[in-house]
Amino acid sequence: MTSLKGTRITWLGHATVLVQSAGGTNILIDPFIQNNPKYPKDYSLPARIDFILLTHGHSDHMADVVPVAAKHGSTVVAVYELADYVSGKGVANTIGMNLGGTVQLNDVAATMVEAKHSSGVHDENGTHYAGVAAGYVLAIADGPVLYHAGDTAVFGDMKLIQELYQPEVAMLPIGGHFTMGPREAALAVRLLGAKTVLPCTLEPFHRSRGHRINWLRWLIPGLKWCSGHQGKLSKSFTTLLFR
Ligand code: NI
Repeated sequence: MTSLKGTRITWLGHATVLVQSAGGTNILIDPFIQNNPKYPKDYSLPARIDFILLTHGHSDHMADVVPVAAKHGSTVVAVYELADYVSGKGVANTIGMNLGGTVQLNDVAATMVEAKHSSGVHDENGTHYAGVAAGYVLAIADGPVLYHAGDTAVFGDMKLIQELYQPEVAMLPIGGHFTMGPREAALAVRLLGAKTVLPCTLEPFHRSRGHRINWLRWLIPGLKWCSGHQGKLSKSFTTLLFR
């Protein structure tokens, strides 16, 4: 089983994930809260969220970025054009970056990596260019290396992510309509070499997540799963405990 060495990963439905390093850095990836049908309604975010990471501009990945950043005092990290967009919407502190780059977020080195997906922001004035979609590799000091794929198809250069960063935990979409599904995600896990997988984006929501997770388990025999959930969607799944 992957050792997270004190790092906590909390899945909050869809692609929304809270990462808390042992050193005390709180990072929220893709805040989608108000309209997220899988967000645990009784869950309270920590008072301080140091950084919010956005993978792309679709509303199911960033709908709540402005209020969450304001309430929790967060700096928002995103591809340059998307960082510029949220800055224009009132986010006080942003870090714009681009594919292949790394920024140091306290004790976490965050590298922006490729994703195969579209990215545009839809608002009351139409659709705006928001740069390219991305994923993140989070290398935590004295902790594990995590990979959040955002929304993506599987792609061969996931092998490069393995060679460069050796992620131990992969957070992958398995929706199979707007992103890759379980069959492709199984190949992604092989390319990435990850020992632990957190299945994320579920779109469309009406499909059974459990069914897709069981499909993924069947495709990847021997894969180590997070303790405590065993493929079932339940409240216990919202806080993942790795040993
Ligand atoms: Ni998307």
